[in-house]
Amino acid sequence: MNKPLVILEVREDVALVCIDNPPVNALSRGVREGLVKALRQAAADSRVSAVVLYCAGRTFVAGADIAEFDSGQPSTEDIHELFGLLDGYARPVVAALHGTALGGGLELALVSHFRVASRSAKVGLPEVHLGLLPGAGGTQRLPRLIGAKAALELILSGKQVAADQALALGIVDEVVDGDLLDAAIVFAHRVIEEHRPQRRASALPVNPASVPAGLFEQARQTLAQQRSGNPAPVRIIACVEAAVTQPFTQGLATEQRLFGECLHSPASAALRHRFFAEREVSKIPGLSGNLTPRSISRVGVVGAGTMGGGIAMNFANIGMPVVIVETTQAALDRSLGIVRKNYEAAVAKGRLSPAQLDQRMSLLRGALDYPELAECDLVIEAVFEDLALKKQVCARLGQVCRPGAIIASNTSSLDVDALAQASGRPADVLGMHFFSPAHVMRLLEVVRGAHTGTDVLSTVVKLARTIGKVPVVSGVCYGFIGNRMAECYLREAEQLLLEGATAQQVDAAVESLGLPMGPFRMLDLAGVDVVAKVVIERGKSGQLLAGPTYRAVALKLMELGRYGQKTGSGFYRYEGRTPLPDPAIEQICAALAARHGIIRRHDIAEQEIIERCFYPLINEGAKVLEEGIAYRPGDIDVVWINGYSFPDYLGGPMFWADQLGLSTIAARMDHYAAQLGNEHGYWSQAALLKRLAAAGRGFASLTESELGGATG
Ligand code: 3HC
Ligand code: NAI
Repeated sequence: MNKPLVILEVREDVALVCIDNPPVNALSRGVREGLVKALRQAAADSRVSAVVLYCAGRTFVAGADIAEFDSGQPSTEDIHELFGLLDGYARPVVAALHGTALGGGLELALVSHFRVASRSAKVGLPEVHLGLLPGAGGTQRLPRLIGAKAALELILSGKQVAADQALALGIVDEVVDGDLLDAAIVFAHRVIEEHRPQRRASALPVNPASVPAGLFEQARQTLAQQRSGNPAPVRIIACVEAAVTQPFTQGLATEQRLFGECLHSPASAALRHRFFAEREVSKIPGLSGNLTPRSISRVGVVGAGTMGGGIAMNFANIGMPVVIVETTQAALDRSLGIVRKNYEAAVAKGRLSPAQLDQRMSLLRGALDYPELAECDLVIEAVFEDLALKKQVCARLGQVCRPGAIIASNTSSLDVDALAQASGRPADVLGMHFFSPAHVMRLLEVVRGAHTGTDVLSTVVKLARTIGKVPVVSGVCYGFIGNRMAECYLREAEQLLLEGATAQQVDAAVESLGLPMGPFRMLDLAGVDVVAKVVIERGKSGQLLAGPTYRAVALKLMELGRYGQKTGSGFYRYEGRTPLPDPAIEQICAALAARHGIIRRHDIAEQEIIERCFYPLINEGAKVLEEGIAYRPGDIDVVWINGYSFPDYLGGPMFWADQLGLSTIAARMDHYAAQLGNEHGYWSQAALLKRLAAAGRGFASLTESELGGATG
């Protein structure tokens, strides 16, 4: 028999209603039904003078069951029956909060008459991150409890607030240390003894002092400037405004209507996809759950340049000692100086205390020799991107590191298998591809070599979560998942310049889709020289399937010393950090086009730019899948959202491709192959794309048996 999701126990005069729906007590249909049943039973029990609502396991209800939103059984249908029952409940109901009371979970607490929270509890309404708004009365009850301004801020930001702050705001009535259930029962007894009437948020007026003049107008203006594709914020503002201007039941109806609009929007579907995809990435197909992870308590970093210092910070942030090896004392001093500056900036913003700064700096120790790494459990090399050098470093690490230590490379393009062989202990080796700035960017590509031990892989995936990263496993190939796909995007962006588009036109088209920066602003920021060198190195290794115009503009700009922002000119010219159109680029591109016999056009439309930049990228994603470089289409989406700022409300390139329809993409690839010629295979479709498009299927329909390969 299935374990009940809701358990009722009557202890003297208090009914204890316990929700037990692991892992996070989501308010799924079974829980809602169980709650209605338990509350009706308690209402009919003459012994009961109050109810305490609490949860088993690690947290109070963390929200509605998000999976139900995609199952065609929207959770809000019968949620209102439950919430109506609670609101009008004849006996006081006390919610006891621990862990994270989020979304529908906090709304469940808000409809209860009183709230007691553990000191470690956190509360919040994070629906906005899913393209939703609180749809179980949260937008109406919270402003009545804590005022319109504070409620608006909380709901728009989706932030979690700690119990003490929740108390100060008026979200909870008491914060307790010690046993929460005991404290909630004591609270309930106090309510009974003092004959305190139920405090129904629905019956409270919104405090007029909490609605400064222009509150909603200003919020709308701020939002308009953000140009977000998320449908929720504008509707959240409307709901909170309704809480101020409409009676409760009418406000609730407004909330339900606007919640429905959000729920059925493609953007919310995309954001929900992101939620689950970011969790699924840690599930490695074929890996036994019984693997014992290797213990990591001391880390080494070799090479403290742009990446090494940031990588080290990740570990110091969680209290792990780090040894950083460099070639010179000057390089070490420089790197530790930058790390200190980063921490000082966090102190200035109030995100870190001066004591924490000192503690973190004390965990970082510089060294000039490899034997210092002997005690480390994990060593990450981040020396120059040079295969011969990296092989040497890995060989040294293979000798110096203790048996069982993991050796990782932060290479962004080189062959991890070759490095693994060089180490002499390939089972201990894998890639940990951090993104720049390494202490900020959430993405970590974990590159699984042909011989990487499964325990090594699972250790690093877990460790990545500990340092706050989203780990995505990639097989070995040039550029792994992200940079490999980015190559096609950059190639086509530059090709468009040769054909007559301007840099600002291409950037504007890409930015209109929601990326914060188009390709040329991005290249100018990253350094045209850095990017061009990668193309040159790749060319030398014979890996380029490319024609003579491949990345020709970047190569030319490098030759001219136009390295981007740092030299004051690149694809743009710069006044400070402001990019300005530069007629010189037009001339450079016209000359290159003439040399290569490219006819320039002046009719390149935004749609063409978007299709030509992104469809080859999606096509490459299909190749990444069919080769088994990525486990799932969702993994690719997670890479692009977290590593390349692809708009989350489009769900990542593969989810977006499914929305556009793979047959549409395939047809446009054929169109461009015919229009532009396909001498170098740029427009050849991946077999997987072709097959799915012909069958009218999307990437999301791929089954486990159709996926997997090189990574498995
Ligand atoms: N619905 C369904 N599944 C959920 C869920 C939810 N609300 N919240 C978490 N899960 C699942 C996760 O998918 C994961 O499943 P898996 O183990 O199969 O991968 C499992 O629970 C554990 O989740 P995490 O890995 O995220 O665990 P953490 O301990 O790191 O974090 C958490 C816990 C802070 C609760 C985090 O899961 C979270 O933020 N959850 C979502 C909270 C949220 O967005 N709530 C609002 C939902 S929408 C809503 O309530 C609408 C209402 O207004 C009508
Ligand atoms: P960098 O040039 O800023 O730093 C490299 C550092 O390695 C230098 O400080 C150098 O002194 C040191 N070094 C060289 N040989 C050494 C040795 N034998 N022992 C110890 N230290 C040595 O390079 P950056 O940008 O930090 O890149 C490092 C690695 O990270 C490369 O593999 C690169 O591809 C990768 N990467 C870089 C990203 C970026 O945006 N810069 C992003 C992701 C990965």
